[in-house]
Amino acid sequence: MQGNKGNILNRQKRIEALKQVVGERTPKSGEAFERALGVYPNGEISAARGFDPWPFYAAKGEGPYIWDIDGNRYIDCCMCYGVLQLGHRPPAVTEALELQLQRGIHYGCPHTEEVAFGEKFVECVPGADRVVLCNSGNEAIHKAISIARAYTGKDKIAKFEGGFHGSNEYSMWSIYPDPEQMGPIDRPNPIPHAAGMIESQRENILILPFGEEAAFDLIEENAHELAVVMIEPVGGAGGTLMMGEEYLRLLREVTERMSVLLLFDEVITGFRLSLGGGQEYFNVMPDIATFGKALGGGMPIGAIGVKREILMKTLQLDPPLSVAGTFSGNAMTLAAGNAFLDYVMSHPRIYTEMEERGDYLRNSFNEYARTKGYPATMTGVGSMWQVHMAPPPIVNPRDRIKEDAQALMEYALRLRLEGVFIPAPLHLAFISPAHSSEDVDELIRALKASLDATFDPVDGP
Ligand SMILES: Cc1ncc(COP(=O)(O)O)c(C=O)c1O
Repeated sequence: MQGNKGNILNRQKRIEALKQVVGERTPKSGEAFERALGVYPNGEISAARGFDPWPFYAAKGEGPYIWDIDGNRYIDCCMCYGVLQLGHRPPAVTEALELQLQRGIHYGCPHTEEVAFGEKFVECVPGADRVVLCNSGNEAIHKAISIARAYTGKDKIAKFEGGFHGSNEYSMWSIYPDPEQMGPIDRPNPIPHAAGMIESQRENILILPFGEEAAFDLIEENAHELAVVMIEPVGGAGGTLMMGEEYLRLLREVTERMSVLLLFDEVITGFRLSLGGGQEYFNVMPDIATFGKALGGGMPIGAIGVKREILMKTLQLDPPLSVAGTFSGNAMTLAAGNAFLDYVMSHPRIYTEMEERGDYLRNSFNEYARTKGYPATMTGVGSMWQVHMAPPPIVNPRDRIKEDAQALMEYALRLRLEGVFIPAPLHLAFISPAHSSEDVDELIRALKASLDATFDPVDGP
C-alpha cells in the first residue's frame, strides 16, 4: 500500500468532508430526516436504517436499483435486508398483488391461498411437515421458543455468541461481543443487547461459543434444563460467518442425544441459500426452523416449520399452545408469498447463478484487497456478502473486534457516492437474480475504487 502516510490521522477529516458531500447530494432527504427527528426515535423506524449524516429517503425501486427523492440512483445491495430476494417489483409478484387487490386485502377467515401456500412451504422445507404463520421473523422466533418450551417442559434456551434472532427479549443477548464483558471464548457471558431486557431472563439464557467444540460440552452440562439451541445456518447480522456443515452435523448429534431441540433460524437463509434453505444446503435437519423476509415476496411474514409430532404434542397440552394473530396469513401477503414460491420452485437455476455470481464478487474483492495489501475482507456465501475492515481470517464474531470502524465508515460513505446502497456499516448485503453480471461488474468496480480511496487516498475527500 502506498501513500498511506497520514491516512489514519486524516481519516476523520475525510469522513467529515464526505458526510458533507453526501448531504449536498441528498438535500430533500435531509429535510425529511429533520421532520422525522421530531416524531421517531433518533428519526428512525428501525435502527438498522440509520446513516450519518442522514439516510436517503426512497422514491422508487426497480429490479436491482433504488432511487432516492433527490433523484440519485443506487445499485441496491440492501434489498430490504434480504426481503427482496428477486429484486424490486418482480413482475410475478406485482401481478399477483394487483389481482388480489381486486378481491380483498385481508378476510379474517380462511381462504384457499393459505392452503396452497402451506402445501408449497412443506414441499420446499425438508425438515418441516407442519407450518405456523405469523407476521415477522421476530414473532416467529418468539413462537418457536414457546413451542420448544411447551414440547420439552424446559425453560432455558441457548444461542450462539454473535447470533441474531430478532429484537425480542428472549434472544437479544450477546449479539456483538464486547471485549470488556464477553468472558472467556469457551464460556461467553450473557450480555444484554438492549435496554429494557428482564434481568431474571439471564438464568434462562445460555450463550454458546461460536464454532467452538466447547459449545457441545455446555449443551451436555445444561441439557436437563435446556429446551432448545438456536442457530443461524449462516450467521447474518453477526458478520455473515459460517460454522460449516461438519459443525452443524455435530450440533445435531449432541442436541438429539441430549433431548434438546435444535432450531435453525432461517429468517435470512430460508429459500435463499437453496429452495430448502440452510437445512438443505448443509443437509442437516433441525427439529424446528423459523422463516421470514423473502418468503412473503416483499410483504410482511414470519413462519415456523416444524415436525408434526412436536406441534401435535404442544396442541394436546392443557392449556395447549396458542396459535393466533390478526394479521397472520393475510390475503395480500399470501398472494405475494405464493407468487414468490411459484417462481423459485420453477426457477432452480437462480440458486446456482447466485452461488456463481456471489463467488465471483467475493473472489474479486478479496484478491484485490490482498494484492493491494488493504486490511479488508469479504465474507459470505451464495447471494449473502459482507465487507469487514480487517485482514483475514474473519471466522468468529470475536475476530470482528479488530475491525477498523472508522475505515468502515469512510468506506460506506464512499460507496454511497459511488451509487451503491449497502446497509449502513457493519451489515450483511445481498445480490439478487435482478443484478445482472454487468451490475455485479459495476458493483465490483465501485467496491475497488472505494477501497483505493479509503486506504490509499490521493487529494481531497
Ligand atoms: C436471523 C434473523 N432472525 C430473526 C430476525 C427478525 O426478523 P424481523 O426483522 O422480520 O422481525 C432477523 C432480522 O434481521 C434475522 O436476521
